Amino acid sequence: MTASLLPRERRELAPGAVHLPDWLTLDEQRELVASCRAWARPPAPMRATRLPNGGVMSVRTVCLGWHWEPYRYTRWATAPAEEGGARERVKPFPPELVALARRAVADAYGDAGAAAAYEPDCALVNHYDATAKMGLHLDKEEVSPAPVVSLSLGDACRFRFGNTETRGKPYVDAELRSGDVVVFGGPSRFAYHGVPRIFPGTGDPAIGLSEGRLNLTIRETGLTDEVVDAEEAARAARVAGRSGRSARRTTGEQA
Ligand code: SIN
Ligand code: MN
Repeated sequence: MTASLLPRERRELAPGAVHLPDWLTLDEQRELVASCRAWARPPAPMRATRLPNGGVMSVRTVCLGWHWEPYRYTRWATAPAEEGGARERVKPFPPELVALARRAVADAYGDAGAAAAYEPDCALVNHYDATAKMGLHLDKEEVSPAPVVSLSLGDACRFRFGNTETRGKPYVDAELRSGDVVVFGGPSRFAYHGVPRIFPGTGDPAIGLSEGRLNLTIRETGLTDEVVDAEEAARAARVAGRSGRSARRTTGEQA
């Protein structure tokens, strides 16, 4: 990272994706770090997410409002089997993040109407240690096309912002530092993005984070409990149907 005394400029990473450097005050950063620390505690604490392929993500995540798991939202986090496997209700989405995210949308787009219409109901809080990364991916489990608001705290990182078609080029790299916000919406809402590296030791301990990076992505899911419950019931029925068929096969019954 190259430290600079010059003010860093607002930058459009792609159409609809705006990076606003030094957007949060030091006090706001301190308050958010303290909140993240409280949100990280049980129940439904900050954990490394397990992927369907058996891998484990290098970031640790706590969700607010809706719990994200690969690749859907639920209201429930499930503890790993070795921790008892309990279902734990996700923490509520904090109203203070609604106001903060609306302010970010207003500042990024200069559009008070879009900000007022923004109804975020979910945040993923990720903690990166010195070696954690996040591969290029889409935030695509939300059904709403409303923007994502991403806040950075602590160590700086390289943030890669790409295109909506492929994980490859074209993409641009931006250095995100503590207090920066990125808002990505409109034609960039479903664009690939990721964090190829952290710059350890670059955060200011005055915000209450002595090492690592925190990132909050605030989202409007557009989901309702009715829709998600119906999807979960259909999924459970499919699984039960499959295990019924395999039980008949193993006992030699005709389907
Ligand atoms: C994410 O894409 O979910 C996180 C991005 C970041 O850590 O800046
Ligand atoms: Mn993402």
